[in-house]
Amino acid sequence: MFSKESLFNSRNLPGQSSLVILFVCFFCLFVLVFFSERVVPFLSRPTLPALLLPTGLHLFSSNAICRYLFEVSGQECSEFCNQWLEWEATDLQLCLNCLYIGLYDPFCDLLPSFLIFSLLSLLFHFPVSFTGEHKSVNGWFDRVASIHSCLSAAQKVLQGKGLQGMKSYMQRQPAPQSSQGRNTQPCNCNPIEVSARLSGKRNILVTSALPYVNNVPHLGNIIGCVLSADVFSRYGRLRGWNLLFVCGTDEYGTATENKAREEGLTPQLICDKYHAVHSSIYKWFQIDFDFFGRTTTEKQTEIAQDIFWRLHKNGFLVEDTVEQLRCEQCQRFLADRFVEGICPHCKYPEARGDQCDKCGRLINAVELREPQCKVCRQTPVIRSSKHLFLDLPKLETQLEQWLEKSTSTGDWTTNAKQITRSWLRDGLKPRCITRDLLWGTPVPHPDFKEKVFYVWFDAPIGYLSITANYTDEWEKWWKNPHQVELYNFMAKDNVPFHSVVFPCSLLGAQDNYTLVSHLVATEYLNYEDTKFSKSRGVGVFGDMAKDTGIPADVWRFYLLYVRPEGQDSAFSWADMALKNNSELLNNLGNFINRAGMFVTKFFEGCVPVMELQQEDKKLLALVGWELQQYIQLMDKVKIRDALKHILNISRHGNQYIQVNEPWKNIKGGDTERQRAGTVTGVSVNIACLLSVMLMPYMPEVSQTIRNQLNAPQSCVSTMLQGNGTFVCSLCAGHRIGTVSPLFQKLEADQIEALKKRFGGQQVFDPAAVPAPAAAVEVVTVNGVDPEKAKQLTQAVAEQGDKVRALKAQNAEKAVITAEVAKLLDLKKQLALAEGKSPEPAPQKGKKKK
Ligand code: 2FM
Ligand code: ZN
Repeated sequence: MFSKESLFNSRNLPGQSSLVILFVCFFCLFVLVFFSERVVPFLSRPTLPALLLPTGLHLFSSNAICRYLFEVSGQECSEFCNQWLEWEATDLQLCLNCLYIGLYDPFCDLLPSFLIFSLLSLLFHFPVSFTGEHKSVNGWFDRVASIHSCLSAAQKVLQGKGLQGMKSYMQRQPAPQSSQGRNTQPCNCNPIEVSARLSGKRNILVTSALPYVNNVPHLGNIIGCVLSADVFSRYGRLRGWNLLFVCGTDEYGTATENKAREEGLTPQLICDKYHAVHSSIYKWFQIDFDFFGRTTTEKQTEIAQDIFWRLHKNGFLVEDTVEQLRCEQCQRFLADRFVEGICPHCKYPEARGDQCDKCGRLINAVELREPQCKVCRQTPVIRSSKHLFLDLPKLETQLEQWLEKSTSTGDWTTNAKQITRSWLRDGLKPRCITRDLLWGTPVPHPDFKEKVFYVWFDAPIGYLSITANYTDEWEKWWKNPHQVELYNFMAKDNVPFHSVVFPCSLLGAQDNYTLVSHLVATEYLNYEDTKFSKSRGVGVFGDMAKDTGIPADVWRFYLLYVRPEGQDSAFSWADMALKNNSELLNNLGNFINRAGMFVTKFFEGCVPVMELQQEDKKLLALVGWELQQYIQLMDKVKIRDALKHILNISRHGNQYIQVNEPWKNIKGGDTERQRAGTVTGVSVNIACLLSVMLMPYMPEVSQTIRNQLNAPQSCVSTMLQGNGTFVCSLCAGHRIGTVSPLFQKLEADQIEALKKRFGGQQVFDPAAVPAPAAAVEVVTVNGVDPEKAKQLTQAVAEQGDKVRALKAQNAEKAVITAEVAKLLDLKKQLALAEGKSPEPAPQKGKKKK
C-alpha cells in the first residue's frame, strides 16, 4: 500500500546517475508529448501523450513507451533501469493519481505536460535547451512555459529548490488510500488508474443527422438529433473515450431552391442565412459539436465525386431512362418532396414523392396516384430523362452480411432494426442518385453534366466532408472500421438512408470505409396533442425557446426526460412545469442545496469528518447501484432511462437527510454532532457525484454545482471512468464555495401564457411562412363542393404567386402581411370546399419538415 512517505523516503532519493535514467524515461515521454500533436492529430480534446508505432498501434503508458524506446535504441534495459520503470509504474503513478485528484481546475488538463515540464526544469535547470535532432523540443518547452498555469504551478511546486521542492510538495499532498472497499469509503481519493484510463481507449465517432438548411428546427428535431448526440458525446468524453462529434447543415436540393425562390434570395444566401440560424440555436442549447459544418463545400464535391467514380468503376451504377413529374406551371421537374399524392401501397392520401409517412415505404414520385405540385397544386405531367441508379440489388448480399454483424454487435435501436428489416424484406430496388436540378453537387460524368446528385446520395457524404473540413486526418476516422466505432443519431424517418442506402454506397465504393456500428433512432415528439407546424404557428421552435425565459438547461432536461425513446412522446407545457417543480426543484435541487447549506451553516464551509455507519453504507451502496445503472444505460444510449437514475440518487439522498436530521443532531452532544457531520459529508459528496452525472444533460447546472462545492476539476474525469464505483472527491477539510438555489419554480400563470403563445396563435414574420401549404389533415366534413374547390384552387395559386412576387420585390412588410392573410383565408375556404378541416387535426408520428 502506498503511503505518503514511500515515494521518496522508503527508497533512496535519486542520485546523480539515477537522475540520468529518470531523465531518459521522462525525456521519452516528453518527446511523445511533442509528437502527440502529429500522432493523434484528430483528437478533439486535450489528451495525454501517445506513441504511434510503425505498425499503426498506439502506446499510451509511459512505461510501455520507455521499454519500447529502450529496445529500438538498441540499449539494454539494465536491472537498474527496470527498477526505475517499476518505481514509475507503482509509486510515481500512485502519487500522480493523488495529485491528479488534489489539484485545481485549470491545472488538471495540463498535468502530463506539467509533470514533464517540471521534471525537465528540475533536471536541466530552466530554460531547457536542446540541439541537434531534438531541437524542436525547445519549442514545446517554450510553449508549455507560456501557459501561465503551468509555469506558475511549476514555480509553486519547485520554488526554485529543484528536486527538494518537488519532494516537499509531494509530501504535502493527501495520501492516496487503498482501493479496497471503495463502494463504502466516502473519503477514498483514488481515481481510476491513469494507465488503465489510457490504454485501449475507444475511438468514438458521433454524427447527428444533418438538418435541412431551409427551416428552423423545432423541439422534436432538436431532441431527435443534435441534443441526443450531444448528451452521448458529453458522456463519452466523461468516460475518457477519444470522441469526435460532427454535424452540419444539409444544404443542397430542391427544398433550398424553393426557399430561395420564396424569400427572393439566391440558394447560397439562403444557406448562409439558415446555417447561421441553426448554429445560433444549437449554441444556445449548448450543443457541444467538435465541428458544425455544411455540405456546400469543395470537400463535399471532392469526396462525393470520388465515391461516385468508385461506384462507377466497380460496376454498381446503372443507367436508366425515367419518367419524372414536371410542373408546367412552375416550369421545373418536381423533386420528390414537392409532390404529394395517394400512396400506391397503403392509400394514404398525403404521401410524399419519396416516401409514405404512413406505411414508411419508399415511393417513386410517378407512382403516386393523383399527384399534385405542392407549390401550385397543379397536376404535374410525366417527362422522360436519363439518370444513374445505385444498383442496390447487386449490393444486397454484402449489405446483409454487414448488417447481420453490425446489428448483432452494435447498439441499434429496435425501430432502426425493424425499419431496416422491413426494407430488406421488400427486396431492394435500384435507387436513382441523380436529379435535374441546379443546386447540388455536380455529377462528374460527361453524359450527365447537367445533373446533380440526389440529396439523399449527397447528404450522408456530408458527414465525411464535414470531418474533412475539420481535420486533414479525416480518413483516420472514416476509413478505419476496425479502430473506430460510428454512432449515427437521427429520427426514425432517416433510418433507411443510414442503414441501407448509404452503407451500400460505401460498400460499393470499396475503400475501407467506417460503417455505422450503432444506429440510434428516436421516435417522434409531438407538441401537446398535435404536431409541430411552422405554418400553423404550433409548437416551440429552436429560436423561440430562449424567449421563454426558461434556461437552456431546463429545456434540455425536459426534452431528455420525454425523449421519444422506444415510442412517440409529447412535449406538454403542464408536464414541463410539473417536472421542473417536482424533479428539479423539490428533488434534485433541494437535495444538493441542503447538502451544501449544511456544510456552510453547521461546519463553517468545510466538509466534516465522516465516520460511516451501517445506514451510510447502505445509502452509498444504493447510490453505487444507481450509478452503475446509469453507466450501463448510457453505454447503451438509453439516455432517457439513465436520467431517471440521477433523480433516484437525489431522492435517496433526500430521504437519508430526512431520516438522519442533521439539523437536530448538530445541536446535540459529540456523538450527535459527529453523526450530523457524517450525514452532511456523505450528502455533499453525493451532490458532487450528481454534478458529474448531470454533466451530459445539464452542463451549466452541473458546472454551477461544482463551482458552489468548489469541487476539483479532476472529479469530472475520474467519477465515470470505472464501472460505477463511487469516488469521494470532497475529503474532510475541503472548503466549499457559496451555495445558492439551482432552480426556479415555473408558475401556473407563466405556463398558461406560454401555452397560449405557442399554441397556434403565433404571429409570424410572413417571410418565414413557407409558400406551399403544409400537409392538410384529412378530416372529412359535410359540404364538399367540387366546383367551388376548383375555383378556390385557382384563387389560392394566384394569390400565392402574388405573395411570392411581392416578397421577391421586397415590398413593404404590411402589404405582404395583408396579402398573406388573404392567402391563408383562401386556403381555409378551399379546405372547407374540399371537405377537409381548415384547422388541421392532430396527427401523430409525422415529422414536420
Ligand atoms: O431529414 C433531414 O433533416 C435530412 N436533412 C437528414 C440528412 S442526414 C444525413 F444523411 F446527412
Ligand atoms: Zn407547380
